[in-house]
Amino acid sequence: MSRIIRIFDTTLRDGEQAPGASMDHGAKIQLARQLARLNVDIIEAGFPISSPEDFESVKAIAQEIEGPSIAGLSRALPKDIERCWEAVQHGSKPRIHTFIGTSKVHVEKRFGKTEAEVLKMAVDGVTLACSLCDDVEFSAEDALRTRLEYLRDVVEAVIEAGAKTVNIPDTVGYATPWQMYETISYLFENVPNIDQTVISVHNHDDLGMSVANSLAAVRAGAGQVECTINGIGERAGNASLEEIVMALRTRTDEFEADTEINAEEIINTSRMVSTLTGFVVQPNKAIVGANAFAHEAGIHQHGMIQDRQTYEIMRPEDVGLTESVFTLGPRSGKHGLRSRMEKLGYAIAPEEMEEVYERFVAVADRKKRVYDEDLHVIMRQASTEGMPEVWHLERVQVTTGTSLEPMGLVVLRRNGDSVTQVGHGNGPVDAVTDAIRNAVGMPDMEMADYSVRSITRGQDALGEATIRVRMGDEEAVGQDASLDVIEASAQAYLNAVNSLLLREKTRRERDEEADEAPDKHVL
Ligand code: KIV
Ligand code: ZN
Repeated sequence: MSRIIRIFDTTLRDGEQAPGASMDHGAKIQLARQLARLNVDIIEAGFPISSPEDFESVKAIAQEIEGPSIAGLSRALPKDIERCWEAVQHGSKPRIHTFIGTSKVHVEKRFGKTEAEVLKMAVDGVTLACSLCDDVEFSAEDALRTRLEYLRDVVEAVIEAGAKTVNIPDTVGYATPWQMYETISYLFENVPNIDQTVISVHNHDDLGMSVANSLAAVRAGAGQVECTINGIGERAGNASLEEIVMALRTRTDEFEADTEINAEEIINTSRMVSTLTGFVVQPNKAIVGANAFAHEAGIHQHGMIQDRQTYEIMRPEDVGLTESVFTLGPRSGKHGLRSRMEKLGYAIAPEEMEEVYERFVAVADRKKRVYDEDLHVIMRQASTEGMPEVWHLERVQVTTGTSLEPMGLVVLRRNGDSVTQVGHGNGPVDAVTDAIRNAVGMPDMEMADYSVRSITRGQDALGEATIRVRMGDEEAVGQDASLDVIEASAQAYLNAVNSLLLREKTRRERDEEADEAPDKHVL
């Protein structure tokens, strides 16, 4: 009989901390709805005290989403815990997730305290959280570099204080699977009240071992795993949800454990995260990469024709991978569009329908056949429409050719004002981005990365441009797709600019609101 492992998804909190991955409010709500369809047990929706935007998103997600528990993160400080409760209390299953660093470097260097003082802060934090909320999780940040006997004492004390889940994070991705197995086993053997809590793990991928470490923890008895879609997250990212879920499901013989994830929603969720964050999934990524189920070698294809099991340990349909069908075209109506979008996980509000439909018609008129991948792009484009304080691309035009100096012209609009600017460069994309940089008044912005790939197939395939820009220490990613790659590149560049501007605005508001709020990126 398999144990059921809880899946705690932190794409909206730790995943969103990946440099350049930030999602706006609408995107976060869309993703939370999809995570509920995926049937995760817990959604960590954000870090409410870190900014007014995070607070509002966590609150809105807690108010709307039914099914999974909705958690908010808080340091083990009264003002964080109270703010977190303010945001999550609106949900039917709220959780406060509070944490403090327990390794020597955190205790002594970061806090300048003794182990006993930090243990007291952990207990006080959990006690306060339990006085507000029935479901409290505690994390011993940097647990895998924490002195084992001290970790044991902390775990025992926070369980005593009421923590229903105790998380053992490998914050810096330092652990090995053997160490993880031994640490979790040690806690099970040495914490007398461990049966009163669920032991969780949260692994980062700095050494590429996060999934293996999570599975080792499950073997040692962990009952919850924290992870993100596509493994996005700080630095090298977090353990990937889809890999953990499919490893448990494919090798139940090894783990004697499974999850309640609706695996057929994995591909939709992965594509949505890639679309909303602009983080392209590498083709060879396990489970969700474009090549994950592709059999290229003739000998493999031959074997597959005789019996799929020769080279296939999972079926593509198990994770929701089906041939992309072009059920939609220029004659499709709103009803058909809405129903296909719902299948992809997008719930379109009545007031958004007109805008989404207009974008769909524009694509369908030019392309004739509209694939699911095109619909993801349409949703991403529609989600920025109407946002204040961002630049909109009205027109782009280029002149280029042999012996001609490439020249680009853009017309941008912001809050009703229109700006026209000409730019020059080594090629048409360079010329257009030069024009945009000058139009938005950011002449020092650098292009850190640029790629174009074709979405779907054939001559009428959309070209998707992904651009990473850098301005001082800040980076942002923008993505867009169009039949015209110059247009896609200009829009992708502008999306990255807008993301930098919105981040700057958030920071300004946060500084005005609370000068003591923590920086998410210190975690
Ligand atoms: O990596 C980490 O330790 C975290 C904690 C806040 C759980 O993200
Ligand atoms: Zn983390």
